[in-house]
Amino acid sequence: MTVLEVRTDDLRTTRFTDHAPVPSDGEIVARVRHFGLSANNITYGLLGEMAGYWRVFPAEPGWGRLPMWGVAEVVASAHPGITEGEPLFGYMPMATHVTLTPGKVRDGGFADVSAHRQALAPAYNNYRRLDADPLWDQDHPGELPLFLPLFALSFLLDAHLGQARTVVISSASSKTSLGLARLLAARGVKVVALTSARNAAFVAGLGVYPDTLTYDRITDLPVVETVFVDVAGNVAVRAAVHEHLRDRLVRSVLVGATHGSVQSGPELPGPEPTWFFTPDHMRDRIREWGPAEFDRRFGAALRDFAAWTRSWLTITTATGREQVRTTYLSVLDGAADPATGHLLTLD
Ligand SMILES: NC(=O)c1ccc[n+]([C@@H]2O[C@H](COP(=O)([O-])OP(=O)(O)OC[C@H]3O[C@@H](n4cnc5c(N)ncnc54)[C@H](OP(=O)(O)O)[C@@H]3O)[C@@H](O)[C@H]2O)c1
Repeated sequence: MTVLEVRTDDLRTTRFTDHAPVPSDGEIVARVRHFGLSANNITYGLLGEMAGYWRVFPAEPGWGRLPMWGVAEVVASAHPGITEGEPLFGYMPMATHVTLTPGKVRDGGFADVSAHRQALAPAYNNYRRLDADPLWDQDHPGELPLFLPLFALSFLLDAHLGQARTVVISSASSKTSLGLARLLAARGVKVVALTSARNAAFVAGLGVYPDTLTYDRITDLPVVETVFVDVAGNVAVRAAVHEHLRDRLVRSVLVGATHGSVQSGPELPGPEPTWFFTPDHMRDRIREWGPAEFDRRFGAALRDFAAWTRSWLTITTATGREQVRTTYLSVLDGAADPATGHLLTLD
């Protein structure tokens, strides 16, 4: 088993380690077929200490195994409910293999019950059994790992924003933002994109946002009742939006940190920014709608989003140690093209 590890205090420093995975009683070992990589995984690293992401796959002190969303096939099982060959979806390390400890196995999946993962949100410990999964599209095997974790935010935040009339979204070129913008626009909400100069033409060309502004044009935002969805997490951008809209800003929702900072910044005019954490809202919606209805509604919306991306997004696969490391560093540096979906395999 090969693992790509990163320094927890410097995500640019990486190393490969090798281990022999052998399942103990109750464990399974799965071969990681591929995993998606986007700014979301980098944010896991930035928030690693604070939000517990380093606890998912423990490593030696100072080193971390970033969680990725991926597909794996069971190659050894010491658990009575799981057989070899079964495909699974959920959190994977950047590795050739993953060792899991399934709890009670249901038709749809199981939770990993290892002690070090118990403080995490249930959504992060859940593994889907793909043989029985209506979300699994074998013709497009890269879409589930690339889109499910991001579109979950898009879907849940769209429902949460209810009657908002105007929504401004930073890092508008991200897949998370595009999923949200498309859902909002479909129900008549005016969605304004904030993005970097380098991605402005891409964002404007997709036809999802009627208005696209670069970060240096925040003072051109119309001063109307607005919700700000902050995907970039950039302190200066957030301050400029609050300073410009002041009491016309009705909500400021902090979603991500694509620009590499997790600082809270100085006190701002307008509403206090509040975090939107997908696993909490997913838990609430599943309680409200029931798991089957949640899967039905979420699955239909996810399939629609995935089909739309095929007109503008190319999924590429990086294979082997050096390609995987290089792709990881380019996503970390913000050099990745927003029209490319990165699928990685160390096998
Ligand atoms: N709160 C939650 O529960 C939740 C759930 C899902 C996702 N998220 C967050 O949403 C964010 C978006 O994730 P994603 O995977 O959808 O992103 P993505 O598709 O990889 O989008 C990348 C975009 O982010 C900006 N960016 C990325 N790296 C950068 C860098 N180093 N410097 C400057 N800009 C950079 C660029 O957008 P611009 O040029 O347009 O700024 C880039 O096009 C992440 O922070 C993720 O953690 C949060």
